[in-house]
Amino acid sequence: MEAFKHVLCFVYVGFAMAFATSVELNITKRDEMVWKARAEKAAKANENAYDPNPHHVTNQLNSNVHKATDGRSNDTRRGLHGLIRGPCRTTNPIDQCWRCDPHWEHNRMKLADCALGFGRHTTGGRGGRIYVVTDASDTDMINPKPGTLRHAVIQSEPLWIIFKCNMMIKLSEELIMTSNKTIDGRGVQVHIAFGAGLMIQFVQNIIIHNLHIHDIQAANGGMIRSSVDHFGLRTRSDGDGISVFGSSHIWVDHVSMCNCTDGLIDVVAASTAVTISNCHFTRHNEALLFGATDGFTNDKIMQVTLSFNHFGKGLVQRMPRCRYGFVHVVNNDYTHYLMYAVGGSSNPTILSQGNRFIAPPDPKAKEITKRDYAQESEWKNWVWRSQGDLMINGAFFVESGDPKHVFPSGENMIIPKPGTMVNKLTEFAGAIACKPNQPC
Ligand SMILES: *[C@@H]1O[C@H](CO)[C@@H](O)[C@H](O)[C@H]1NC(C)=O
Ligand SMILES: *[C@@H]1O[C@H](CO)[C@@H](O)[C@H](O)[C@H]1NC(C)=O
Ligand SMILES: *[C@@H]1O[C@H](CO)[C@@H](O)[C@H](O)[C@H]1NC(C)=O
Ligand SMILES: *[C@@H]1O[C@H](CO)[C@@H](O)[C@H](O)[C@H]1NC(C)=O
Repeated sequence: MEAFKHVLCFVYVGFAMAFATSVELNITKRDEMVWKARAEKAAKANENAYDPNPHHVTNQLNSNVHKATDGRSNDTRRGLHGLIRGPCRTTNPIDQCWRCDPHWEHNRMKLADCALGFGRHTTGGRGGRIYVVTDASDTDMINPKPGTLRHAVIQSEPLWIIFKCNMMIKLSEELIMTSNKTIDGRGVQVHIAFGAGLMIQFVQNIIIHNLHIHDIQAANGGMIRSSVDHFGLRTRSDGDGISVFGSSHIWVDHVSMCNCTDGLIDVVAASTAVTISNCHFTRHNEALLFGATDGFTNDKIMQVTLSFNHFGKGLVQRMPRCRYGFVHVVNNDYTHYLMYAVGGSSNPTILSQGNRFIAPPDPKAKEITKRDYAQESEWKNWVWRSQGDLMINGAFFVESGDPKHVFPSGENMIIPKPGTMVNKLTEFAGAIACKPNQPC
């Protein structure tokens, strides 16, 4: 999504004048106030979520990968404090935190201890009730039926949302989420597909876990409930799989995504404290967009970790495309990019560590990086560093900038696990099939 339609639609008075009765005009006015208040509250929360020492966060992640992998062959129980019986294979520190517990189904909220990277404080619906989605339908946008996913995500209190059985949910309109929610698809196969996508707008603390999200399409908009005490008019949605808009403490883990109309995941409008991990992305052109427009300098606050993901078959570009913020791209497997992998404009900081980049056969697409709208005289100052990346088939990363801007002198950088380890670290990327009473 390239424009701030979602914000602007509420003040689009011309629309209301042309279209509306006075009742609708009042709704527009009220909408404007509701969203303005949410935007202001979110802006404060996002500022608080920003970490002034991003290198501490990158170091902490790398150090956890070392701990999780060193001596693995002897001790797969590390980090689980004796919870597990029997062998269980996990390959990265996030998974190791929960996957070997055979009673994961009774300890679902343990997952909330497991995030790493900029989204590490995300706890989602921990401490709240378990809400079981029993109904895959999505018919009433204003008064969603109890038992549906839409009814779950608008509730005010923290909720840990799970699913009764396998289901395919075709969203009629974008799913507008409220704060303090986990959507946890473990134990069943949940597809959110062939309809609208997830909208995480001006909220905090969301975990999206173990889902299939694909073939997401634009939706027309209309009256949609956004909380128990508000519904209002939304314009057309773009067809992003997951849109993170002006939000913070967001963690997307073990999600399989492909073939959405717009992006797979957008992180925009000064969102921050985001981790995207263990996901499997395929069949898509413009995959991940971090920062939607060069004119929006508030995106300097954006801090995103991308770790243990598999960028697979049929991907073309934007893995991710960044503006302004700080992006830690660590231990991901890029097996199938076609044009470029990591790019951006407007001086983003990109720390690429311990990834595997396999270049496509096209001799013109060997360069992993791409800089937009800037001459070399300008981008040579952007801090884009590659460390421990494994380059295959002629792939190369064009570095720029002074690394001291990431690691102030006197502070040690913890070396990442190298790209040679990546196919192990990402072995279980995407939605996984977890069964009760067994390690997942
Ligand atoms: C808003 O609604 C009230 C009645 O609830 C009505 O008196 C008023 O004229 C409306 N205002 C506008 C601007 O339509
Ligand atoms: C693994 O176990 C063997 C035999 O118990 C021991 O000799 C070795 O030091 C252990 N290695 C590590 C990395 O702990
Ligand atoms: C989310 O939960 C936290 C801690 O329980 C609470 O302080 C906060 O107000 C909640 N946020 C919202 C928007 O409800
Ligand atoms: C991707 O989605 C489009 C519709 O948006 C559909 O026409 C196409 O068949 C899908 N492609 C694949 C490979 O599934």
